[in-house]
Amino acid sequence: MGKNILFTSGKGGTGKTASAAAVASCLASLGHRTICLDCDVGLKNLDLALGVSDRSVMDFTDVLSGQVSLSDAAVAHPEIENLFFLSAPSTAMVEDIDPKAMKALGDDLREQFDYCIIDGPAGIGKNFRLAAEPADSAIVVANGDAACLRDGQRAVMELRQLGLEDVRLLVNRVKGFFFKCTSSTIDDVIDNVGARLIGVIPEDKDVLLSGGLEKPLCLYNKDSRALAQFMAVARRITGEDVPLGKIRA
Ligand SMILES: Nc1ncnc2c1ncn2[C@@H]1O[C@H](COP(=O)(O)OP(=O)(O)OP(=O)(O)O)[C@@H](O)[C@H]1O
Ligand SMILES: [Mg+2]
Repeated sequence: MGKNILFTSGKGGTGKTASAAAVASCLASLGHRTICLDCDVGLKNLDLALGVSDRSVMDFTDVLSGQVSLSDAAVAHPEIENLFFLSAPSTAMVEDIDPKAMKALGDDLREQFDYCIIDGPAGIGKNFRLAAEPADSAIVVANGDAACLRDGQRAVMELRQLGLEDVRLLVNRVKGFFFKCTSSTIDDVIDNVGARLIGVIPEDKDVLLSGGLEKPLCLYNKDSRALAQFMAVARRITGEDVPLGKIRA
């Protein structure tokens, strides 16, 4: 039985899509059958991060309507073995998507894949709640600044209210000087957000550049510093005990 993990955040632009794509590629490269599900209805861009925008014809509403089966709609990544992708609709209204059908889609995903990485929207609105339907755990992606952490805390609370107890925190775009200047520690971050840490990803131009070139990070630069940390996150997801190591730069 697979696991469906939602990547979400309080504030927008924290790196959910980049992180979801990178962690999913790492899970696939570890040999796990992994699907990336874009649940950012109307604002999808996970296809760009995975470099499959020219291949995704169907979206998950085609599966919900019964027009096509999940296995036919899931696009196999052309270069990364074990990695699949299912798009969000670009025009549908969230109000028109049945939350119960989304939950049922989650069951099918669990049956057919080892991991489903869901790229959700930011915030705490209807779209956010819809993306949580198929999930059984969540990773809240936050940057280290105070506003982002407060919004991340709000997202954690909301997820718990929706019944998702297993919520972890991924701190992204960490610059050494941030921790030095504010004297904050990762413990402060965890206390502020109220969720256990699953990883810390450095600010890395390779993430930005690979995104701009629509190339998955692992194909753009397999030696990237951020990729090593995304791989550590993937291994922790699989239950491996990977120490967090030294966090303060
Ligand atoms: N660790 C990182 N280092 C450098 N750039 C990063 C990192 N993580 C994300 N980025 C860049 O930050 C920008 C926003 O990332 P992304 O689109 O993944 O955020 P998001 O949380 O999905 O945004 P939205 O809320 O709009 O869906 C992108 O240009 C991405 O390449
Ligand atoms: Mg996004």
